[in-house]
Amino acid sequence: MLKDKHIVLGITGGIAAYKSVILLRLLKKAGADVQVVMTPSAKEFVTPVTFASLSGRPVVSEFFTANTGEWHSHVDLGIWADLMIVAPATASTIGKMANGIADNMLVTTYLSAKEPVMIAPAMDLDMMNHPSTERNIQTLENDGVIVVNPREGELASGLVGKGRMAEPEEIFKAVSDFFAVYNQLKGKRVLVTAGPTYENIDPVRFIGNYSSGKMGFELAAELEKRGAEVILIAGPVSISKKFGDKIKRIDVVSAVEMYEEAKKYFPEVDIAIFAAAVADYRPERHEEEKIKRENKEELSLRLVRNPDIAASLSKDKDGRLTVGFALETDNGIENAKRKLQSKNLDWVVLNSMRDKEAGFMKDTNKITMLSNLGEEISFPAKSKREVAKDIIDVIIGK
Ligand code: CTP
Repeated sequence: MLKDKHIVLGITGGIAAYKSVILLRLLKKAGADVQVVMTPSAKEFVTPVTFASLSGRPVVSEFFTANTGEWHSHVDLGIWADLMIVAPATASTIGKMANGIADNMLVTTYLSAKEPVMIAPAMDLDMMNHPSTERNIQTLENDGVIVVNPREGELASGLVGKGRMAEPEEIFKAVSDFFAVYNQLKGKRVLVTAGPTYENIDPVRFIGNYSSGKMGFELAAELEKRGAEVILIAGPVSISKKFGDKIKRIDVVSAVEMYEEAKKYFPEVDIAIFAAAVADYRPERHEEEKIKRENKEELSLRLVRNPDIAASLSKDKDGRLTVGFALETDNGIENAKRKLQSKNLDWVVLNSMRDKEAGFMKDTNKITMLSNLGEEISFPAKSKREVAKDIIDVIIGK
């Protein structure tokens, strides 16, 4: 799977650098071509000679070789690589990567990277728990970086806690998992709706719901990772996630706008995943001016039905795979089966508001997937990122 894959292995100045020697061996044994890039302080921990001999390539560390003047192009490395791994990734390098501080070859290579990037943080527990580290890792995750989480355990300081770099075998597994699904959906186009819709009452008020959009955005990110082209139609969400070129994000406000955009792109896609919490009704009138309280004791709003995006597009789906969600409080399976039929969907992802791990504004979800062929697959509670992987694995029949 890793045969002839081009990997940039970035080494930073942490004691865990010695473990990266083993990681390099594992990558090489699996047939990958690895170019090691070291920060100046990494060389204090393990010598470049070790990495050069094991990789079969001179280590890149400076912008140019002093005695020959040969220039090392971080841009070329970015074009050459299929994946960049930074292991160990120290607090300092993570901070630089998150903030674009390009004062060494490794961070410059990261900033020029066209390929996906993975980091394996390694640091002492207090540094790991510092709000700035947490913030920087979050920023990198939002920027699409894959994080191989550190483990609890004995640290170089003698303290015990979280910050120990994942073992080389574990990082290697993350790399293999990455390449296993990489390009799995190449050539496929997928439409994803996400987030809530806001239905305007007047210029300052709306009817909305608590959907955060996280599930839909995780689906889009996972689809992109697998090589699909994604049309992500998002209602009003506060997610500033940066996607690569393969995701086209279209921001909309109301259900009607979401419907218009989805209708436009549906004919071009192979798969459509309707993850948005679309408002079923909208005010019949959208007042142009703010409604004043005046002396009114009561105010009535007349609501009219919104289009059902999933149902209306799936009606004539012509071989496209369509997937809907059902967030239920009661009779989940029964309601999900009904939605599967009435909306002509291939799969419905059911989550229950009664599960504390599921629902709006959460980072986790607990789902059961039901198909129009009668399949029923339940999963334990997981992060929305993991749930996105499960959903995609199931619908593409992996
Ligand atoms: N959906 C949609 N357009 C709508 C309403 C729902 O595309 N106007 C989609 C959702 O994105 C989801 C599925 O249909 O994939 C089910 O949504 P849900 O709100 O649970 O279903 P409803 O049909 O509105 O049923 P109810 O609100 O009565 O439970």
